[in-house]
Amino acid sequence: MKIVEAKNYEDLSKKAAALISAQVILKPNAVIGLATGSTPIGTYEQLVELYKKGYVDFSNARTVNLDEYCGLSPENDQSYRYFMNEKLLNHINIKMENTFLPDGMAKDFDKECKRYDELIDNLGGMDIQLLGIGHNGHIAFNEPSNTFPAYTNISKLGESTIEANARFFDSPSDVPTAALTVGMKAIMQAKKVLLLANGMDKKHIIEKSLYGEITPNVPASILQLHPDLTVITCFK
Ligand code: PGA
Repeated sequence: MKIVEAKNYEDLSKKAAALISAQVILKPNAVIGLATGSTPIGTYEQLVELYKKGYVDFSNARTVNLDEYCGLSPENDQSYRYFMNEKLLNHINIKMENTFLPDGMAKDFDKECKRYDELIDNLGGMDIQLLGIGHNGHIAFNEPSNTFPAYTNISKLGESTIEANARFFDSPSDVPTAALTVGMKAIMQAKKVLLLANGMDKKHIIEKSLYGEITPNVPASILQLHPDLTVITCFK
């Protein structure tokens, strides 16, 4: 495990973008696992900058997102497809057909979970997986529970997650209560994992996840077992 302490949020974002760009430079058709939430927004801004300056070419890259809310269409401005297009994908030269998220509008969610795992397998898994972390230790939308879910699953969002995500919605009751999320297999089989934590409020859960007991009650603790984990932190 490598831990990099960033000076501030901009520094964290620049470092994360540099590592993702390096991956695409070394392997132009890299499969990049992407995350949503507030933490990676700066990373996406930096990636757009690096692309505009000509340092990185995404024309052969593929992206796979971790999760999507159940019941939100790509046109809904709270959906993760909308977020990804707005923050990154519309601003770089990636081919949209090479960008993937679970389908929050699927008629049969069980089938959709299976399809998503097959899609990831067919792409050969992620070369690099970007992750944020929830205050309860969730990664993607895998909430604390008694087992580590291996496969893409339908996650019932915990109260603290709904509360945290309510800031993006008009009212807390608008926050969807379920999401489709990749499981631990896709995350742990990523060749590299890049975990970002920004803010003093993430310090406790990062310490618990990286140095505490490995337990599904703290889903991110499984990352202790990943052979190539980089954590970039800014606790301010
Ligand atoms: P945040 O969310 O980046 O908005 O803090 C992280 C997460 O819930 O994974």
